Amino acid sequence: MKYRIVPVDHSNISKARALVDTVFPHQSPAERISLRLYTLKSGWTYRFLSWVFGADLLAFWIAVDESGEALGISGLYRLRKDGHEAVWLGWYAVHPSARGKGVGGALLRHAIQAARYTGGKYLRLYTSDSELIEGSGDAQGVYEKYGLKVKSVKAVYGGLLINRDGVKVLKANKIIREMPLR
Ligand SMILES: CC(C)(COP(=O)(O)OP(=O)(O)OC[C@H]1O[C@@H](n2cnc3c(N)ncnc32)[C@H](O)[C@@H]1OP(=O)(O)O)[C@@H](O)C(=O)NCCC(=O)NCCS
Repeated sequence: MKYRIVPVDHSNISKARALVDTVFPHQSPAERISLRLYTLKSGWTYRFLSWVFGADLLAFWIAVDESGEALGISGLYRLRKDGHEAVWLGWYAVHPSARGKGVGGALLRHAIQAARYTGGKYLRLYTSDSELIEGSGDAQGVYEKYGLKVKSVKAVYGGLLINRDGVKVLKANKIIREMPLR
């Protein structure tokens, strides 16, 4: 499969957001506005909201095919509470139709490489094994393969699954993973 990794900007932000919404249908309000905010990075709105949320969105990339369709996404952000100790992986996903072909590996390697230039000691990420995210189990295998080890696990409410068999309360774990960058 032919693709290239390009920065998220005004020209492709709607494709990036559509991809994220497909893979992660259940998002918090802060998550929902994060990519839109990223494209406002040079303005005062971004600076104000970045201060409110204590987060700085450093860089996001998408993998695009020859026709410009977004196949996958990854990015990096910082949390004020960490200082410069850590940089976090954000919005790591590949469209379900493009999985298993190397796009996810390429995006993760790209993010790890960029993280090494931030001066942070660790690359961290929040992840979940929720049944509501198709492919979140695979993500755990990919993270293990790339050396992102489990740092902490917290059981959380995983949402409601409603189908013809009835209603099921899902259990999920909120997992923090980490790898050293130096
Ligand atoms: C995780 C995800 C991005 C992987 O994308 P992908 O394009 O299918 O990944 P790839 O085919 O490039 O595989 C990545 C690497 O992990 C390996 N791998 C893939 N699935 C694996 C699994 N279940 N267990 C172990 N290794 C696995 C591949 O062999 C590959 O290795 P390589 O890079 O050395 O060649 C994709 O499954 C996804 O979008 N999942 C849902 C979103 C999600 O849960 N994201 C994490 C939220 S924090």
